[in-house]
Amino acid sequence: MALSNGTNKIKTAVFISGNGSNLKSLIKFSRLKKSPISIDLIISNNPRAKGLNYGKFYKIKRKIFNFKDRNIAEKKIILEIKKNKIKLICLAGFMKIISKNFIKKFKGKILNVHPSLLPKYKGINTHERAIKNNEKYSGCTIHLVTSKLDSGKIILQKKVKINKSDTTKKLAKKILIQEHKLYPKAIMKIFNL
Ligand code: GAR
Repeated sequence: MALSNGTNKIKTAVFISGNGSNLKSLIKFSRLKKSPISIDLIISNNPRAKGLNYGKFYKIKRKIFNFKDRNIAEKKIILEIKKNKIKLICLAGFMKIISKNFIKKFKGKILNVHPSLLPKYKGINTHERAIKNNEKYSGCTIHLVTSKLDSGKIILQKKVKINKSDTTKKLAKKILIQEHKLYPKAIMKIFNL
């Protein structure tokens, strides 16, 4: 992906469903001079998502869409994305599956963070499954979103050691810390910075 010009940052939307710790780290990153992106829109399917509070604190536009009817929700999101001239979408703990149609519209422009070393442990309950299988390592992946779940081109990965004493909660926490560093690095990478 190329930067359109040297001064304007790429307008980015972050999609969340819950805590929004990745959103927070992306907002902090976006405010650095070296960052190629600005965060101009936060989308949530969940009105109670804690992450929405970061948006409020940083005065970023927030929009909530009910995914009971995904088709309607996505149509509204597309309008919002166009209105705000969004050029990059970062899924950050967004727990809804996006339709093939939506992905096609923004081909190559949607990133996701996944808490495993893909292609291992696609989907949910990644930490439980990694521990149960006695994996020595797990980690996180930043990848491009395609219509196949958690299968798009891998931008960056970070390995995290699983200790014998690690519970699902402990491992999730360790991996999350790495996610916060990896997402900004992956964004720098896709813009060749
Ligand atoms: C993160 O660990 C992210 O990798 C995961 O949800 C968590 C969200 O945390 N995403 C998925 O499992 C997507 N399949 P956050 O809301 O604090 O950023």
